[in-house]
Amino acid sequence: EKGGYEWFMAKEIDEQPKAVADTLLGRVGTDGRLQLDEMRLSDDELREIDKIIVIACGTASYAGLVAKYAIEHWTRIPCEVELASEFRYRDPIIDRSTLVVAISQSGETMDTLMAIRYARQQRARVLSICNTNGSTIPRESDAVIYTHAGPEIAVASTKGFLSQMVACYLLGLYLAQVKGAKYGDEISHVIDELHAIPAKVQRMLDEGDQVRKLAADLVDRRSFLFLGRHVGYPVALEGALKLKELAYVHAEGFAAGELKHGPIALVEKGLPMFVVVPPRARDQLQEKIVSNIQEVRARGAYTIVLVEDGDDSVVPFADVVIRLPRTPTLLQPLVATVPLQIFAGELAELLGHDVDQPRNLAKSVTVE
Ligand code: BG6
Repeated sequence: EKGGYEWFMAKEIDEQPKAVADTLLGRVGTDGRLQLDEMRLSDDELREIDKIIVIACGTASYAGLVAKYAIEHWTRIPCEVELASEFRYRDPIIDRSTLVVAISQSGETMDTLMAIRYARQQRARVLSICNTNGSTIPRESDAVIYTHAGPEIAVASTKGFLSQMVACYLLGLYLAQVKGAKYGDEISHVIDELHAIPAKVQRMLDEGDQVRKLAADLVDRRSFLFLGRHVGYPVALEGALKLKELAYVHAEGFAAGELKHGPIALVEKGLPMFVVVPPRARDQLQEKIVSNIQEVRARGAYTIVLVEDGDDSVVPFADVVIRLPRTPTLLQPLVATVPLQIFAGELAELLGHDVDQPRNLAKSVTVE
């Protein structure tokens, strides 16, 4: 069943180009327009939406953070992201014109399920992004976008996460399409760029030995920091979560701009710090993060920098450079996440842990 792999997670990481491609499959018509079969909400209903709230747990919530950047940029509809376990306990302001988007690989996570039940009681419309056909969350939703990642067995989500992000992009582009043609050119450009992603993910897999070797070099470290900005921030959070889940080491992801407001106090000689650099197209973001890298390097951090091809500005301050294929800024998480997954899996394996079934965790948590 593992097809020659030692761990399901390794197999699932390698299946990501297909998971991305399959999630895109059949969703663009011959006229170039998006078609989402399981949408079930009419264009008129979608045009009434004036607020979007994404709810999810764990890794899925990081897909939600990426969704916020993309959906707001393409649709200009305000979009919040909230942990499902917090959502219904804060008396959220929702009504008929709110679209609640629940992201869940399993479709059975109790926190997320209870949140959508609450949202529907408040008459919000609920759309779920789910990988499991016929599971409870999509059954209780008004609309569904299925991710087509195939069954995910390893507890730590990998291909589930990438396909959730793809579904979020599709949702954002679809809402933009429904709203009108203002972003028409950008929509078709992004669709083309999405179709180029599987080959770019494949390249990250082909270059995986670089991070495997890095894991061997850093196997004795007990703490790791991850820094990102814009959509690199959720990537940093996911990189840290994977290390906690799999390697049981302290790991923390944070927004690069927050460095000076606290986390820089943690930096000491030899502390490994992963930094996700936004594409150069985003000058200001890119420059700011390069100066962050300089700051932590000057304080002795061991800097592992994820940066797109052709951007050499960080090279003088990087102990390790991990190259990323060029993508539009919003899509960069689809490639930047992959080496962090491979790193966490390799570190866990070197430490002798069960990569597929980490201690204390369950694939789908059916209690609140
Ligand atoms: C956790 C899993 O318990 O649930 C995570 O360990 C997962 O890997 C999270 O991201 C959410 O699960 P789901 O199925 O709702 O996406």
